[in-house]
Amino acid sequence: MSRASATNRSKGLFEMPIYCFAKVSSTNEVAKELAIKGAHEGVVVLAEIQSEGRGRCGRSWFSPEGGLWLSIIMRPKIRVDEAYKLTFIVAVSVANALIKYGLCPLIKWPNDVLVNGKKISGILTEINSKNDCIEFAVVGIGINLNNIISKSAAKHGFSAVSLRECLDERVDSDKFLRFLLNEIEDRYVEFSCIGFESILEEWKKHSYVLNRVVEVYESGVRFSGLAFGIDENGALLIRLENRKVKSIISGDIKLAESRKP
Ligand code: BTN
Repeated sequence: MSRASATNRSKGLFEMPIYCFAKVSSTNEVAKELAIKGAHEGVVVLAEIQSEGRGRCGRSWFSPEGGLWLSIIMRPKIRVDEAYKLTFIVAVSVANALIKYGLCPLIKWPNDVLVNGKKISGILTEINSKNDCIEFAVVGIGINLNNIISKSAAKHGFSAVSLRECLDERVDSDKFLRFLLNEIEDRYVEFSCIGFESILEEWKKHSYVLNRVVEVYESGVRFSGLAFGIDENGALLIRLENRKVKSIISGDIKLAESRKP
C-alpha cells in the first residue's frame, strides 16, 4: 500500500471516509483488513492502481491507472445466502450512474455491466460470516472509466470498453464517483428499510440475459437453454431443451443464437 488520503463524504448513511491510495494490491483486500479491525459500514477504499486486482472465479482483474477501482464495506443484517442482493444493488447502481452519461447499460448475470455488449464494469462481493449471517461484506467495483481497454481486450479475446471510449472524451472521475455512491446509498437504504423487491425489478429491467437463449459453461460442462428467471438465492434459472429447469449459481454465460429450446 502506498500514499493514502481520506476525504469525507456529504451526509447520509454512508457518512464515512473514502480512503484513497495511489496503489494497493486489491481494494477488496484493504477493505477486508479494515472491516476485520471494526471499520464502519460505508467506508470506501479506492485506489488508482491495483497490483493484484481480483475478479470472479479466482481470475485476476487488470487495474491500470484511469479506471475506477473501489470497495465498500457493508454490514447488512442478512443471511449469507442473500449476499447476491448486495451485488445486484451495486450492479443496478452502476447501470444508473452510466445512464446519466447517456448510455444504455445492461446487466449480465451475475455481476457484469455491459455497454453495447462490451464489459464496462465488474463487481466482486466477498463476505465474512458468523452462524449463517453476514458479519461484513466487501463489495468491490471495477469500472473502466478513463482507461483505454477495447483494443487490448479484443486482442486477448474479450469484449471490454471504458466510459471514455464510449463518450470519446475523458470523464471527471470525482463526479462519477459521487453519482455512483449516491445511487448505491439510495438503493442500500431502500433495501434495508423496505426490502429487495423493487431493486430486483429494476435489475430485471436492465437484464442482458433474461428471456434470451444462453450458453452456459459451468464446472467444465457446456449447455444451453432459455434464461427465464432468478430464484430466491440469486441463481439464474435456465429452461433446458428437455424442458427441465436448471439453476446456475456460478458459471460463465453468453448469449446463444436467437433460437428457443
Ligand atoms: C469480475 O467481473 O470478475 C469482478 C471484478 C471486480 C474488480 C474490482 S476492482 C475493485 C475491487 N478490488 C478487487 O480486487 N476487485 C474488485
